[in-house]
Amino acid sequence: MKNLLRGVSPSARYAVLGDPIEHSLSPKMQNAALRACGLQGEYVPIRVPSGSCGEALSLLAGQGWIGANITVPLKTEALVWCQQSSVEAREIGAVNTVLFAERRGLNTDGPGFLRTLPDLTAPRALILGAGGAARAVAWALRQRGWPFFIWNRSPSRAEQLAEEFGGQMLPTPEVDVGDFNLVVNTTSAGLHGQALPVHWPTKGGGLALDISYGRELSPFLRSAAAFSWSVQDGRAMLLEQGALAFEAWTGLPAPREVMAREIEI
Ligand code: ATR
Repeated sequence: MKNLLRGVSPSARYAVLGDPIEHSLSPKMQNAALRACGLQGEYVPIRVPSGSCGEALSLLAGQGWIGANITVPLKTEALVWCQQSSVEAREIGAVNTVLFAERRGLNTDGPGFLRTLPDLTAPRALILGAGGAARAVAWALRQRGWPFFIWNRSPSRAEQLAEEFGGQMLPTPEVDVGDFNLVVNTTSAGLHGQALPVHWPTKGGGLALDISYGRELSPFLRSAAAFSWSVQDGRAMLLEQGALAFEAWTGLPAPREVMAREIEI
């Protein structure tokens, strides 16, 4: 842990902790926001392995850092470290934003995702996956009051999540997305180069969202686009959760346009 800050800029006061962390666009986006608001302090990525989150947060808190984002696989550990937490963090069971001075944890993933949802008059939503990321999405859909289904490779996890957040489980091994007009992929199948057992309707289409982002569209979004669905990757959620975190740390309105431009939305 002593080596945690080796090579880190002495002017850093904000961080994103996770493992892996190199791919994160948060430093680019948050540094642009800090500069646009004339604020001091850099935002840096720090690789923290699973099991070491509490120790890392204590170290940064002790050195007067201001705030951090927490990403995979540390969000539950961060909740445990925090002495206070927001209602959202407790309901979702994860902290993605830390305020060091108060040792307070927030979850801006759920509220951030909520802000990216379009207006749908007759929403029929489906969540693919039932892991940590799916919890924030289920929380947001419940908050919006939209009925939703959950499909997961391991059905028991889908059942549990559906029960907790008031959705319904889709018990089939394969998914026909023609029954829905909003489909959100929260699985990590694409990261492992694996395809999801999803069948796209040949006519009509809705909105396909993927909470991950990368240089290219995920295989899930590529299939959706091929069947004329509208697609949106995880950068919209990244922007909104990051803007809410920035506002919590600084007390200033987040410069959303600057942040959006920086991550090429
Ligand atoms: P996260 O916190 O990112 O959601 P996670 O808790 O490990 O990570 O969950 C990963 C999700 O992706 C799970 O829903 C997982 O399905 P299982 O519960 O059956 O493991 C899903 N997933 C991963 N690889 C998959 C694949 N090849 N096909 C379908 N679902 C997959």
